[in-house]
Amino acid sequence: MGTFLDRRTIVLAGILGAVSVVAANSWMNAPTGFTLDSSGRVVAVDPVGVIFNKAMPLEAAHMLVAAYLVGGFMIASVYAGAMLRGRRDRYHRLGFVIAFTVAAVATPVQMGVGDALARWVYNDQPEKFAAIELVPQTSSDVPETLLGKLNSNGTVQGGIPIPGLASWLSDPATGKSTVVKGIDSVPAGDRPTVSEVNIVHLSWDIMVGLGTLLFLLSLWYGLTWALRRRMPTNRAFLTLAAASGLLSVIAMEAGWVVTEVGRQPWIVYGYMKVEDAATANTGVWITFIAVTVLYLALGVTAILVLRGMSRRFRRAGGFNDVESPYGPPASPAAEPQVEEATR
Ligand code: HEM
Repeated sequence: MGTFLDRRTIVLAGILGAVSVVAANSWMNAPTGFTLDSSGRVVAVDPVGVIFNKAMPLEAAHMLVAAYLVGGFMIASVYAGAMLRGRRDRYHRLGFVIAFTVAAVATPVQMGVGDALARWVYNDQPEKFAAIELVPQTSSDVPETLLGKLNSNGTVQGGIPIPGLASWLSDPATGKSTVVKGIDSVPAGDRPTVSEVNIVHLSWDIMVGLGTLLFLLSLWYGLTWALRRRMPTNRAFLTLAAASGLLSVIAMEAGWVVTEVGRQPWIVYGYMKVEDAATANTGVWITFIAVTVLYLALGVTAILVLRGMSRRFRRAGGFNDVESPYGPPASPAAEPQVEEATR
């Protein structure tokens, strides 16, 4: 009972920790909960208004689902790699199925939350949306341009335009006639630079492209279960599944680039520019290097400890095919061992 409560506390603390970090970030996208005096100084703060800003619910939901999605694909990819090397026993199949199922369920949910978030950006951060969709001038019937880039003369070069789709996705009720604000809709000093626009657009393509690929992989897995009552075990599926961990991390990082670079030149949207917030302290390099070295050391240590544990586990014979960490006991005699493995 005690262990169960401890586990629940860890899950709750993890979720609340992630939500608080994202609340701070979403406040930078939708700053509320404070009052400024006539000289622009903060005179009153309402912490509840700060935490529960308008961007928080969707941004936090998107990041939480991303965490389950990335966690699931990362774990599954390790088992898929082992299955590709011929380890097809029950332990590996089960390890794969539990993790991949979590990620496969999270993927369509993430696309739904992402779609709602994109509509929030369309309404509340139009210049970020213009960068995402590569829209230099305000217009209706805006295409969804896959790849391509913005030139310094304000024209879009290359890419594959899907006619009217960006307008339609922005507001399906008004369809192709939905007006999308362009980068020209904000004063010149408040616009992102051409290279920032291109970074945001490419990151958007990467996040949505990989999200769609992972969704198709999840669909393949789900359909095989539905039709054949087993997971797909062919080489093509396992190779993609082995890559899914890395691909999902890339999608997540691309998402953060969309959020952060898409807000440029603001650090606090509409209130403070990055140039006014950046420190003039030249000593930050020392703390930056110290933190980088610390995290590298922690990362290397974690890998070495895990490898050591894995070797010890194999030397001890690993799980045999009858046992499984979370499965029902094969025989009453095997029960105590299964209990041990789940603890
Ligand atoms: C496939 C459809 C997807 C859509 C339509 C979508 C949409 C969006 C949008 C509009 C933003 C910018 C939010 C803002 O600046 O306020 C964003 C950010 C983000 N995306 Fe996605 N996304 C999708 C898939 C994914 C996937 C598959 C992942 C992760 C594996 C992911 C992870 C993130 C993260 C971590 C952020 C930054 C933090 C946040 O807003 O929570 N997205 N996404």
